[in-house]
Amino acid sequence: MGVTLLIGVFDSGIGGLSVLRALRAELPHEDFIYLADSGHAPYGERDVAHVLTRSRALAGYLLRQNVKTLVIACNTATAAAIDLLRAQYPQLPIIGVEPAVKPATLLSQTGRVGIMATRSTLESARFQTLLDSLAANGTSTSFVLQPCDGLADAIERSASTGDTTELIAACARHTGAMGRFGTEKGEIDTLVLGCTHYPFAEQQLIALLGDKVQLVATGEAVARQTRRQIASLAGLAESDRPGRVSLLSTGDPQVLQAAAARWLGLQAAVTQPQF
Ligand code: DGL
Repeated sequence: MGVTLLIGVFDSGIGGLSVLRALRAELPHEDFIYLADSGHAPYGERDVAHVLTRSRALAGYLLRQNVKTLVIACNTATAAAIDLLRAQYPQLPIIGVEPAVKPATLLSQTGRVGIMATRSTLESARFQTLLDSLAANGTSTSFVLQPCDGLADAIERSASTGDTTELIAACARHTGAMGRFGTEKGEIDTLVLGCTHYPFAEQQLIALLGDKVQLVATGEAVARQTRRQIASLAGLAESDRPGRVSLLSTGDPQVLQAAAARWLGLQAAVTQPQF
């Protein structure tokens, strides 16, 4: 029997669990190793050098654990580090995430799309290129960009305590700054969740904005893309047993353990890697 090869997934914290959830649904026989960098989070309000250094350290660690593919389940880390990691590991399929701006423009009927993301993602050259490519294609959609300071942190805290008071206040503050939501002309009818933490605030956002506003996340598209890459480059798992998941955190293991149980129904011990 050969060595079991894993799919490595990392994020600044628990947000990437929204991507892991979609990956497990798409690739039920694959084994995953999920690494939350909670000891060095949040990334979104730190300088790019910090995110780059951490992304290199996490990728290096995961590569030493026999990964056949790497999923950067973090918009902020993708914007800062994916080009460099691809250059450093040219043989390794590396999949990143970016705000689902293109799908949102297709969905919007009012032509006004909101984008919630970290400050770092919105200020990145990669995100600017994405907006420029839409402008070059002549889009008539207008975008309202909202850097959501503190929101990922509030989600981390609500995962471990179950208390959503701070989370609701953060969602209200950020969506309140974006203008009117709704399906009338001039209103934002489509909201891009441009950080992998934000799908875990979906309920709170729907309660604030109503269920007519469409929320667009990236987990499923990333999972489909990962399947395609693995099938053509790294090889899908040969066994048909249910895939296993190892959870690791550089911060408080309790936070990741509680989030995985709460949102993925995954009961697994969390270990703290040494690197
Ligand atoms: N989950 C990360 C993202 O997708 C960022 C959260 C943070 O600020 O650390 O951008």
